[in-house]
Amino acid sequence: MGKTYKIACIPGDGIGIEVIAASIKVLAVLQPLFDFKFEYTDLPWSSEYYRKNGRYMPPLPEALATLRKHDAIFFGAVGDPDIPDHISLWELLLPIRQGLQLGSNVRPSKIFKGVKPPLAGCEVGDLDWLILRENCEGEYCGQGGRSHTGTPYALGTELAVFTRFGIERHMRYAFELARQRPRKLLTLVTKSNAMRHGMVLWDETFYDVAKDYPDVKWDKMLVDAVTIRMVLKPKSMDVILCTNLHGDILSDLAAALSGSIGIAPSANVDPERKAPGLFEPVHGAAFDIMGKGIANPIATFWSAAEMLRWLGEAKAADGLMSAIEHVLEHGPITGDLGGKANTEQVTQAVISALKQ
Ligand code: NAI
Ligand code: MG
Repeated sequence: MGKTYKIACIPGDGIGIEVIAASIKVLAVLQPLFDFKFEYTDLPWSSEYYRKNGRYMPPLPEALATLRKHDAIFFGAVGDPDIPDHISLWELLLPIRQGLQLGSNVRPSKIFKGVKPPLAGCEVGDLDWLILRENCEGEYCGQGGRSHTGTPYALGTELAVFTRFGIERHMRYAFELARQRPRKLLTLVTKSNAMRHGMVLWDETFYDVAKDYPDVKWDKMLVDAVTIRMVLKPKSMDVILCTNLHGDILSDLAAALSGSIGIAPSANVDPERKAPGLFEPVHGAAFDIMGKGIANPIATFWSAAEMLRWLGEAKAADGLMSAIEHVLEHGPITGDLGGKANTEQVTQAVISALKQ
């Protein structure tokens, strides 16, 4: 008998609901094929829940205690056209990432066979990156305030906070992952020229940590220059180590360069494994296409594969990835990738590929 895992399922809002529903169908077929079992707890935490209860989820200690009873969290997206984005994000996703101390956000991107990337001359194998985004502090730690609101002297501060602990935890994990990849290459992304305190601590911590990983080859680059390198020399990079804000932006760029945000997955993990990981597509609620049944579910399928890998079900993860690769190569594909298929058609195609 295979193992049973407890999965907290938070579809959230918009296309998050659609792509999680599609993934549950795929996972239902995957479980008997690879002899494992998922027991889901459906958590309705969302903008709908907020409209009814005045909050996105129960009070934080209670919400975190509920999540901690699970082996992993499967998350769709949060965001609502009628609710300011800073409220939806800060009421649900960010307090979970920070509350569970999910210190690293892992965002792979690569060019699959059959996907036509926007960069001329860029082919399968030319872009295969792992973006490692710091996930609890930095520019998104939530420090700051506003004064003189509503007057011509209105001001707002947004403080970036870097701690040796948070940086080191994240960087060690980046090196561990770099070590497991064939090229063992790591690029430190920084901005320590203009940001002379936190980002200098970021660099200094890196030099210390790097000493423990002599087998990993590394280089260092300012974030603005990294955007140029991603476009002009994608092959020259492997693991890309970033702060919270830089990783947020660079991973959207990476998604676009690899074909579409609709295939980009992410894993929010505590490298020390003291909390369940949270697995979600990189994309958001996608107001422009929500409710139409045309969202690309591949980003969430790939996130599910990352969840399986994290749980130790490597064969199931590989099986799911092969099915995804088969469908990307042979179709059907959704509009964001240049195809005409809807979410359900892609889901059924992945299920057929699994059964083969
Ligand atoms: P978004 O990722 O929702 O959409 C950006 C663009 O990509 C849209 O044109 C959308 O149609 C397209 N797109 C995204 N996912 C797709 C998919 N699976 N298939 C096909 N096309 C796809 O980002 P946006 O528009 O900046 O944010 C919308 C809302 O989502 C906001 O409330 C934002 O705060 C929230 N958001 C939430 C995230 C999360 O829950 N992790 C992440 C990003 C945004
Ligand atoms: Mg983002």
